[in-house]
Amino acid sequence: MILLGVNIDHCATVRQARYRGYNQTAPGPVEPDPVALAVRAERAGADGITIHLREDRRHIQDHDVWRLKEVSTTRINLEMACTPWMIDFALKVKPHSVCIVPESREEISTEGGLDVVARRAQVKACVDAMNAAEIITSLFIDAEPAQIDLSAELGSPWIELHTGAWANAWHTPGRAEAFSRLHDGALRAHAAGLVVNAGHGINYDNVAQIRTLPHVHELNIGHTIISRALSTGIEEAVGEMKKRMNP
Ligand code: PXP
Repeated sequence: MILLGVNIDHCATVRQARYRGYNQTAPGPVEPDPVALAVRAERAGADGITIHLREDRRHIQDHDVWRLKEVSTTRINLEMACTPWMIDFALKVKPHSVCIVPESREEISTEGGLDVVARRAQVKACVDAMNAAEIITSLFIDAEPAQIDLSAELGSPWIELHTGAWANAWHTPGRAEAFSRLHDGALRAHAAGLVVNAGHGINYDNVAQIRTLPHVHELNIGHTIISRALSTGIEEAVGEMKKRMNP
């Protein structure tokens, strides 16, 4: 069984489009509430909830993380930049896992994953701090041998393979090669002892291929589920994705 982490960031994106700058925790008409949506997604079968607290706070806000921590019945995966402030915040919140993602140009490797090779010292400090606090670290990386090998060497227990380049190549001749890179990367990571997750750009159609990746533990999926939920409701959107992941 492949597990499903539902990314609720884009529910917060819609809220911020109207209510940026409001006191969002005061009683009032602030909507939609990503935390309420997360609870419904969990009841519908989500195995975990992913939230990205960005440095620019463009969608998820600090209070969302704390409120989710209070009510979540599954696992919280906190996506974050590898900065001292975020590390400190994660140590206070104590999510089940943190996924380290690049937020600025300098942190990004060829396809758009975290450049662990270039940021070795910062990533190691983060992995060490999380390991000491018994929070699982996942590194969001491209399926490149150097990135995979170093992730394992630095002691990160999990990685998340960046599937964006493959998703973008879906309607192009480059798709087979992009998939084969992910395939080889998953094999290599598993052989190095890493738990292999995947995410970015996965949707109700292309999930049929990504679920055939070897050793995949969990898929983190956001945009397509939130989009479908607008017409079907989150329960059906989550249920349908779970069916397609594990037919
Ligand atoms: N995984 C990571 C690390 C992400 O940053 C995101 C959001 O971009 C996702 C998964 C989910 O991507 P999407 O919204 O395209 O499903």
